[in-house]
This record gives sequence, structure tokens and C-alpha cells, in this order.
Amino acid sequence: MRHLMSPLDFSVEELEKLLNLADDIGKNPKKYAHTCDDKRLATLFYEPSTRTRLSFEAAMMNLGGKVLGFSSAGSSSASKGESVADTIRVVSCYADICAMRHPKEGAPLVASMASSIPVINAGDGGHQHPTQTLTDLLTIRSLKGRLDNLTIGLCGDLKFGRTVHSLIEALVLRYSNVKFVLISPEELRVPSYIREDILEKNNVEFEEVERLEDALPKLDILYMTRVQKERFFNEEDYVRMKDFYILDKQKMELAKKDMYILHPLPRVNEISTEVDADPRAAYFKQAQYGVYVRMALILTLLEVKLPC
Ligand code: CP
Repeated sequence: MRHLMSPLDFSVEELEKLLNLADDIGKNPKKYAHTCDDKRLATLFYEPSTRTRLSFEAAMMNLGGKVLGFSSAGSSSASKGESVADTIRVVSCYADICAMRHPKEGAPLVASMASSIPVINAGDGGHQHPTQTLTDLLTIRSLKGRLDNLTIGLCGDLKFGRTVHSLIEALVLRYSNVKFVLISPEELRVPSYIREDILEKNNVEFEEVERLEDALPKLDILYMTRVQKERFFNEEDYVRMKDFYILDKQKMELAKKDMYILHPLPRVNEISTEVDADPRAAYFKQAQYGVYVRMALILTLLEVKLPC
């Protein structure tokens, strides 16, 4: 039995296979409509979510399976003090696979150690968000035709942004010649373990800049992120930084004609809504890719025999 805690749980060959399966699902959804007819997915979300929870549920329903779960810690027995280990032992009796989001880093890993069903990390604190990374990889591959030889700009909250940490790790350790431009205010720079243990240790070409305008002309992909209110210890710091970056039509004139904008969403103010009409705005398409890749992931972890 396999769990998914980090995108690095998959080798480059396994990632290729998973992304190819997601591609095929996107092209031939009907072929997969009954592959999980007798299966159940539990979504255990101790933290708010729209895309991850609902796309997991849509993914399982698209495969013919059923879903059960909770969408906040307050509506589960966590509010009475139940541990994630006890919760997953019980949920293992009700479902075949589980997606768990938790505000504490490492909580899905603790659950996986007590679980008799595959556990998928659906985001743990400021640590990792592997299924968002799978979504991002599928989106980039679909739009650019490759995952190697790219210059990627990551902009916004690079300190607490778990989607950023997972994506950098996956691109550095699974693909070749990906360069990074890390665009953030001083207070929200990537954590030192990403800079030193991932980027520097692997001799990756990267630069850290504060101005989005300086980075835009160089990029193949711009990955925007939200400044996350829920990760700040005081309101004052959040208010000071929340509108640090606003991508608008005028700034988009500095970008290449084939530079795509990704965003894990939700968006607050960091991308002006006027940019949505730009053909390079790919963030809503990205949310659709998230369903295909989660369908592929469920089939893979459940080791379902695939239709011909
Ligand atoms: N991208 C993402 O994780 O969105 P949600 O928080 O809505 O799941």
C-alpha cells in the first residue's frame, strides 16, 4: 500500500505515467466512468478548502465511486480531542482511500502510519501540497509541452506557501535545467531549507528579487500566490504585505507572449480580474487539470486495473 505525502514519493517515471494517465482521462473521461464503482473516498479536511476537497470528491464521483468526510475540524470528533491516528483507524473501516488536509505539518504522515488505507496529503500547514504540485506539473506540461528547460517565477508568499515548496522540490529533483526567479518581499522569502538544501545543494540557477516588473520579461511561467492571512501571527504584518503584488494588464505587457500565469487559488488581490481575459491566464484551466490528476492519483494508489 502506498501513501502520498510529497511529490517526491513518485520517481520521474512514475510521474510521467501518472501525468500520461491524467492526460488520457482528460481526453476520454467516459472510459474511466466506472473504474471505481465499488470504492469510497474519505475527505478529512481539518482546514478550509474549495478546490482540493471538491476536486477530490468530483474525481472520485467521475470514476463512479462514492465520497464521505468532513470539511472542518469543528464538525468532526477532533473537536472532542480525538487524534488523527485514531480518526484514520476508524475511517479505514469506512473508506478505501483518504485525502487529508490539516493545519499541522506532518499530520497526514502521522495518519498514514496508523492507516490501513492509502492516505493522501491534501496540504499540511506551510509544509507540502503534493496534489497541487501534480496539478501544476500537468498544467505546465500541457501548456508548454515540457517540464525541463524552463524559467519559472514564483511570486508572493514564498515563506509559508506550501504549493511553492512542493513545486520547487519536484521541479529541481525530478526535472532538468529549471531556473527560478523568486519574487517576494524580504519577510516572505523561501525558507532556508528550500534555498540551501534544495536549490543551492543541487546547483540550481536562481535569483531572489523584490520587484515583479524586473522578473516578468524572463519568465516562461509565472506562478502567483496569495499572501496567506491564516499563516501570520499578527494582523499588522499581514495588512502591510497583503497587496505587495498586484499583477495587472499593464504589467502583463512586460511578459513574453507565451508566458502562462498559474495560481493555485484562491486569489485575493494579487491578480487583477482584468487579467482573467488574457489568453495567458491559465489558473482556471489549472483547476480543471486538478480533477484529472486526482482521478489518475486515486486509480494509481488503489491499483485499479485500467480500461484498455
Ligand atoms: N489550491 C488549493 O489548495 O485550494 P483550496 O485551499 O481551495 O483547496
